[in-house]
Amino acid sequence: MSWIESLPLYRGKQVFLGAVALGVICVVLSVGCTDVRPRQGEQPSNSYMTSDTRHPIPLSSPEGKQHRVVMLQHLETIQGIVSALGEEDYELAKGLTEAHLGFFRHRQAMASQQPENFPPAYHDLAMAHHQAAEDLAQVIPTKDLKQILPKFDGVLKACVACHLEFKLDDRS
Ligand code: HEC
Repeated sequence: MSWIESLPLYRGKQVFLGAVALGVICVVLSVGCTDVRPRQGEQPSNSYMTSDTRHPIPLSSPEGKQHRVVMLQHLETIQGIVSALGEEDYELAKGLTEAHLGFFRHRQAMASQQPENFPPAYHDLAMAHHQAAEDLAQVIPTKDLKQILPKFDGVLKACVACHLEFKLDDRS
């Protein structure tokens, strides 16, 4: 019998919790919306959309496609490294970093793409990115996230730095 007696109270609690949950959802949604839609007069934060000052790289269509394949592999590699770190497989994380983002990868990229089609500044950003990957690979064996994460951040910063400077031109 006792469960029947406590039912109204239980329901009361449910209604209360429901109201709280609804409140939380409303707050989250409204915060989400203010983030997405900039208020009038405010600058939207996405510089790719507003003032696109990126330099176009003049690649032919097949070269552009090849470039995109490399980029998509970069993103997959990042995912693989994070996954390996999450599973505490430091050896795999180091191997992926070296093989896919380090100087080894750079030599492969130079062989498969025509380096002369890329401006010198692009080459410098690519080198900085490979160096950041080598720096990351070096600290992974410490298994210390306090050392690993800042170097990981360095790699991602190198991705972002180049994306802010360059784009493929419309042909590619
Ligand atoms: C040296 C320059 C450079 C570096 C470093 C670089 N990228 Fe890119 N990436 C580009 C350019 C240029 C594009 C084309 C952007 C455009 O045309 O809008 C691109 C495009 C991409 C794309 C979109 C691919 C598509 O299908 O359109 C992804 C994903 C990407 N990069 C991931 C990464 C990741 C992850 C890293 C770092 C691990 C990275 N990139 C490092 C230059 C770079």
